[in-house]
Amino acid sequence: MRRPIIAGNWKMNKTAAEGTALVQAMMDDLLAVPDVDKVVCPPFLAVPDVSRLIQGTELGVGAQDLYWEESGAYTGEVSPAMVAEFCSYVIIGHSERREYFHETDEGVNKKIKAALAHGLTPIICVGETLELRDQGKTEPWVRDQVIAALQGLSAEQVASMIIAYEPIWAIGTGRAATASDAEQVCGGVVRAIIGDLYGQEAARSVRIQYGGSIKADNAEEIMAQPNIDGGLVGGASLQAKSFVEIVRATARAKGFI
Ligand code: PGA
Repeated sequence: MRRPIIAGNWKMNKTAAEGTALVQAMMDDLLAVPDVDKVVCPPFLAVPDVSRLIQGTELGVGAQDLYWEESGAYTGEVSPAMVAEFCSYVIIGHSERREYFHETDEGVNKKIKAALAHGLTPIICVGETLELRDQGKTEPWVRDQVIAALQGLSAEQVASMIIAYEPIWAIGTGRAATASDAEQVCGGVVRAIIGDLYGQEAARSVRIQYGGSIKADNAEEIMAQPNIDGGLVGGASLQAKSFVEIVRATARAKGFI
């Protein structure tokens, strides 16, 4: 069975001091939940302190982005090696980056390759707008995003990564996808296309998260779906209580507690 993974995407919230206080407040409770990977993704400047705090525990740290070049004249960017010094995971292609910072499928693909070359596990975000959903175009859109993101990767690389299906209309809106709609895209679209392109072994291994308005009170139903292997949590990851509750709900949904 794939091990579920809950990642908290703090986005542009929490200073280093606030971030370490948050992790301190929830660390023991998170570590008490069995068989679920727990990851926090602070803003870059909070990453070193948070990573030192959780060192030697089972908690993981992820970055929210990276740049694909190794080093050089790229003012403001953070290289894969800089991320890998502190993090095991990196979110790539979040819809906010695609929308506000004009990230393209091609750039997402380069970032994934750079992350893998530095031993990082990418969490690759895909998802449709409300307009595309209303037009009935969710499936081809998500399929094309997955194909573009994974271009040129081996089946083994694909098997090791995490894909987060995040419908854009569900992010930060309080309006999560229904569990069955989320399952349909995670299983019927994302896992299916990976099976077609990279084989059944990769499809069985790749972990697929749902993201978009996951809260303590809807997590269990969503995480109970067979093709949903965890979640990428935004707003509800900013408070210890709700993040811990979501991790517990995941363990309950998968039958671990
Ligand atoms: P949300 O964000 O949980 O606040 O909807 C999810 C995300 O963008 O990763």
